[in-house]
Amino acid sequence: MARNRKRSGALAPQAETRLIRAAANARRAAVAPYSRFRVGAALLTRDGRIITGANVESASYGLTCCAERVALFHALTSGQREFVAVAVVARAAGGPMPCGACRQLLAEYAPAAVVCVADSRDLRRVRRFTVKELLPRAFGLRPRF
Ligand code: THU
Repeated sequence: MARNRKRSGALAPQAETRLIRAAANARRAAVAPYSRFRVGAALLTRDGRIITGANVESASYGLTCCAERVALFHALTSGQREFVAVAVVARAAGGPMPCGACRQLLAEYAPAAVVCVADSRDLRRVRRFTVKELLPRAFGLRPRF
C-alpha cells in the first residue's frame, strides 16, 4: 500500500489536498479560447509523483484535448504506469465530471485511480469516484504496455 493511499482506497487527506491544488494550478495554463472553460488535471503516481495537464482547444473543435488526457499522455510518455489518483478542477458546480473519452483512457491506463473533482471556487469540497463507477464494463483488449 503506497503511503499516499489509505486501505479503503481513498487518498490520505494531505495527499488529496496537494493533488487538488496541483490541478487548480495546472488549470492556469489551459488554452481554451473557444469555450473559455478552463480545466486542470493532476495525476498521482504510486511513488508519489504528480503530473499535470490542462485542456487545449483547436479552431477545428473536435481536435480539442481535455485536461485529463493531456495529463495522462504526459505521464505515460514520461514512463509512468501506476496511478493512484487523478484530480480534475474547473469552474463547475460540484467539480467537472470527466468526459466519456477520458473515462475510457482512465479505464485503460489508470483503472485503480480514485477520481477527485472540485470546483475551482471551493477546492475544499471534493467529490470522489472510482474509475469503475464512471465507466462500468469498459472496453479493453488487455495488451501489455
Ligand atoms: N474538458 C476537459 O478538459 N475535461 C473534461 O473533463 C470535460 C471537458 C474541456 C474540453 C474543452 O476544452 C472544454 O472543456 C469545454 O468542453
